[in-house]
Amino acid sequence: MNKYLTCALNWVDERFPLTANWKAHLSEYYAPKNFNFWYYFGSLAMLVLVLQIVTGIFLTMHYKPDAALAFASVEYIMRDVSWGWLIRYMHSTGASMFFVVVYLHMFRGLLYGSYRNPRELIWLFGVAIFLCLMGEAFFGYLLPWGQMSYWGAQVIVNLFATIPFVGPDVAEWLRGDYLVSDATLNRFFAFHVIALPLVLLGLVAAHIIALHEVGSNNPDGIEIKKNKDPVTGIPLDGIPFHPYYTVKDIVGVAVFLIVFSAIVFFAPEMGGYFLEANNFVPADPLKTPAHIAPVWYFTPYYSILRAVPPLFNSQFPGVVAMGLSVMIFAALPWLDKSPVKSIRYRGAQYKGWLAAFVVSFLILGYLGTEPSNVWGQFGANVPLLGGADRATVVARMLTVVYFLFFALMPWYTKRDKTKPVPERVTG
Ligand code: HEM
Repeated sequence: MNKYLTCALNWVDERFPLTANWKAHLSEYYAPKNFNFWYYFGSLAMLVLVLQIVTGIFLTMHYKPDAALAFASVEYIMRDVSWGWLIRYMHSTGASMFFVVVYLHMFRGLLYGSYRNPRELIWLFGVAIFLCLMGEAFFGYLLPWGQMSYWGAQVIVNLFATIPFVGPDVAEWLRGDYLVSDATLNRFFAFHVIALPLVLLGLVAAHIIALHEVGSNNPDGIEIKKNKDPVTGIPLDGIPFHPYYTVKDIVGVAVFLIVFSAIVFFAPEMGGYFLEANNFVPADPLKTPAHIAPVWYFTPYYSILRAVPPLFNSQFPGVVAMGLSVMIFAALPWLDKSPVKSIRYRGAQYKGWLAAFVVSFLILGYLGTEPSNVWGQFGANVPLLGGADRATVVARMLTVVYFLFFALMPWYTKRDKTKPVPERVTG
């Protein structure tokens, strides 16, 4: 290295552990050598987080968090601000892609048992990140102050009103008014641009620190730290994160950016899935849209909410089920009793349940995008389950499957027929 650079680095190292950290987290951080496709999504999630923060900062320069001005300020960004349309489409596409990437990242956890001992805390930080991300997306969606922003917020805040006794007061407290209004927009803006991003960044840092404490899992679910070189103490199946995985991750980033750009430039609305048509209409508190549906990434939970029948005329049971359907992920490390981690060595039972869970999740997601009145058109009031329409019956059955995947896990993972796990990773 250049003499002056070495001098400068030494000067910094005497005051700040730069080289020590570089080594500990990159050049001498040993990751399993058998990472595959599924291991791209953690670094991609970090990329999208940075993209969202940077594009968000630029949007904030022209956006007006005022009920009278918000909608027009977004149109102004789209039409008059130089490159404003690009920044806005990057941010709106980034929101959806964040969920695509995070869902795939979580699915990897289910494939390889990444949530199991000793990685429970990485997983719990992940679940907290997921909750935060949902909040972040929800708050952000109100900001353009379109019809869907407005009525979506109305529906979700009203869910809190179903809590027995205190519900209506809680909903009013959340809105800061008797209806979704300027006060609501202002506080959602504060949460979206500063409160939640700060929490998210903190949680992601904790997620990575926890990961580097115990080391990564891998597609074989083998602990590489159990097989170390007796002389160097380096895991025999480990390779330095830098340069090997930095280079691999760059390939993922390149492919991701191609897909991302294709959406931003050619289909930013993604047929109404990333940006809903109704959100190009300014919010009107006096006109409820015929079809209020959340953005696609919330629809599986929305279906669960709609699938649970009301009790004494209250939607509260549905709200509880919806909350539980997200929170239940946190229990996974303690529900899975299998002697093996990776799907490669699990038996048919886990594979079957995981497939059933994924199919339920996807179909519930689809049903959640359909308007409630369309639910009726599937089978026009089949007199089954109290006269519920066929789509509701399907959603109910899938909701049961969704929860059974978790509830029966201790049982089916214990009696599943597993294969012997090799000593060393299989490449
Ligand atoms: C902003 C969102 C997130 C970011 C930036 C992020 C980042 C990362 C990174 C960089 C890794 C290491 C690389 C990799 O294994 O792919 C990782 C690993 C991991 N993440 Fe995340 N993550 C996020 C959300 C989540 C969520 C929502 C969960 C689960 C609920 C989760 C669970 C895990 C687990 C279990 C690992 C260890 C995986 C293994 O070693 O096999 N993460 N995360």
